[in-house]
Amino acid sequence: MNNRLFLFQWLLLLLLFIFTKTSISSKLHKIPRLTPLRDQNINQESNSTNLPKEFETYYYTQTLDHFNYRPKSYKTFKQRYIINSKYWGGSNSSSPIFAYFGAEDSIDSDPLDIGFLTDFAPQFKALLVYIEHRYYGKSKPFETMEEALKDEDIRGYFNSAQAIADYAEILLHIKEKYSAQMSPIIVIGGSYGGMLASWFRLKYPHIALSALASSAPILYFDNITPQNGYYSIVSKDFKEASKSCYRTIRKSWSIIDRIASKNNGLSYLSQKFKTCSQLNDSFELKDYLNFKYSSAVSIMIHQVIQ
Ligand SMILES: *[C@@H]1O[C@H](CO)[C@@H](O)[C@H](O)[C@H]1NC(C)=O
Ligand SMILES: *[C@@H]1O[C@H](CO)[C@@H](O)[C@H](O)[C@H]1NC(C)=O
Ligand SMILES: *[C@@H]1O[C@H](CO)[C@@H](O)[C@H](O)[C@H]1NC(C)=O
Repeated sequence: MNNRLFLFQWLLLLLLFIFTKTSISSKLHKIPRLTPLRDQNINQESNSTNLPKEFETYYYTQTLDHFNYRPKSYKTFKQRYIINSKYWGGSNSSSPIFAYFGAEDSIDSDPLDIGFLTDFAPQFKALLVYIEHRYYGKSKPFETMEEALKDEDIRGYFNSAQAIADYAEILLHIKEKYSAQMSPIIVIGGSYGGMLASWFRLKYPHIALSALASSAPILYFDNITPQNGYYSIVSKDFKEASKSCYRTIRKSWSIIDRIASKNNGLSYLSQKFKTCSQLNDSFELKDYLNFKYSSAVSIMIHQVIQ
């Protein structure tokens, strides 16, 4: 995906609340995100050694618990961050630091996917920093996510307050290591990462001068935003593009259910939709179509912007 395309996505798709599927939120609907879809298996071996050489990988010895003094709190883990200093104005300069906050995935391909940072780095002589979110990729307090979540003492440290405290600690460490005391820090994130960026600016205003939260559903919580907020926008887009298309899709759900409830109905649907395996439930089909329609909306918006 070229960088210009990516810039558009970053800046303009404010209406898209993009959640990715993780094992934690597997109960949520899969809402497509526009970055190239990777294997979302969070236990996959991650590897950032294939990045171009200006991206250097480091590990910070991170404290598991930033807020308590229990014995377990002192446990540490290795947290990965990646630095690109190719464009940086240098120590003791006031060139900024652009800090990209990892979200609910390994950070492996983020330095290449997030063109926004490298696009703007030369102009601002910025130091680029990408930090991986705790419990993902190579930044796990246990070998696997499953192990970490099984352990009830450890599971509790998997939260966003701890995650942004991690980011604060690493950014202060980097400021020191690079003699960058004069460098203002701009924190940047997309989707959940954007929520983290905005919370970071609120909680650590002395560390970040500003935050860029892209496509971040900051107020997408119960009792603030209706929980059908995402899909009501998807529906609205279809309605605006074609009323009859909208009506057809709307009617299809109950028709699918009706056919599925008949004898051999699921086999019939499996054949009609050429599913790779036999459908066990109409939900499997509806969920898939849902996903496809939502992706189509992202692409529609994309083309309008282009
Ligand atoms: C990461 O990739 C490099 C180069 O492709 C390879 O040498 C290394 O063994 C890989 N590490 C892991 C943990 O997969
Ligand atoms: C930056 O300032 C520190 C403290 O004054 C000094 O020790 C260091 O050599 C300076 N670094 C550069 C690259 O000028
Ligand atoms: C139906 O269930 C089987 C067994 O669990 C599974 O392998 C298959 O993928 C399911 N079908 C679909 C369409 O998800």
